[in-house]
Amino acid sequence: MKIIRTVTEMQNTSLKLKRDGNTIGFVPTMGFLHEGHLSLIRRARGECDILVVSIYVNPTQFAPGEDIDKYPRDIDRDERLCEEEGVDIIFYPTDEEMYPEGYLTEVRVKRLGEILCGVSRPTHFAGVTTIVSKLFNIVMPDIAVFGQKDAQQAVIIRRMTLDLNFPVKIIVSPTVRESDGLAMSSRNAYLSEKEREIAPALYRSLCLAEKMIKSGKGYDAIEIIVKMRKSILTAGPFDIDYIEIVDAETLEPVENPAGKDVLIALAARLGKTRLIDNIIVGKSKSKLK
Ligand code: PAF
Repeated sequence: MKIIRTVTEMQNTSLKLKRDGNTIGFVPTMGFLHEGHLSLIRRARGECDILVVSIYVNPTQFAPGEDIDKYPRDIDRDERLCEEEGVDIIFYPTDEEMYPEGYLTEVRVKRLGEILCGVSRPTHFAGVTTIVSKLFNIVMPDIAVFGQKDAQQAVIIRRMTLDLNFPVKIIVSPTVRESDGLAMSSRNAYLSEKEREIAPALYRSLCLAEKMIKSGKGYDAIEIIVKMRKSILTAGPFDIDYIEIVDAETLEPVENPAGKDVLIALAARLGKTRLIDNIIVGKSKSKLK
């Protein structure tokens, strides 16, 4: 396994690999890898000749108060895990390499980045799409794998890839959960023992919504969301940012979810930690995969 730290070396390596007829698979990450990341890496491993994982905590997707310095990091462990999973190259650039002096450009997907998580994190998705565009231009992958856990991010990246004609196939891989249902996330490391016990209430509320939609009783979105809120707030001191039922592809609100492909997405704070989760309910659950 090779570790590449500069843009020029990564681009030259990818160009040579492609000239030699290899396909490149890519999993972008911010490091501190967990089972969720490993499932993306395994998915990509099966679909390419050369597998590149990037590890870069991207400053432009953190707002000033979001404390990028506290984001968990463990590069030695990440390297070991990548090696074990058969990763060929880790791209591990510095901030100076990614955003050199004089840097001014931003990639922004309108509307999709301004709803759901975009309301309370207005600069977040522009940071994500900017760095992912840069990474696509640097790594030049044929396929890239993202997690369903970040459903809005996945929809936005798909849109951006189409709109900007990146020759990259986007694969969205299912959310990996702990045995009690909590979606795996690097942010779970911030939870206290007590908060960790309470946190699976978010997933339980999503399951409750799925049950209501499939009950055949024709519950509308408002009724479902009211029940979800109640079940979350009964479980613990959550501060709910949003719960929304939207079209799984366009992210437009859906009033009557029965029989439609909907994404039920939520974000809530537990103590200092902001958690997100979602499920897709509908005829063709596989649409985003
Ligand atoms: O999902 C993430 O970890 C990040 O948003 C990504 C895609 C690596 C961009 O920094």
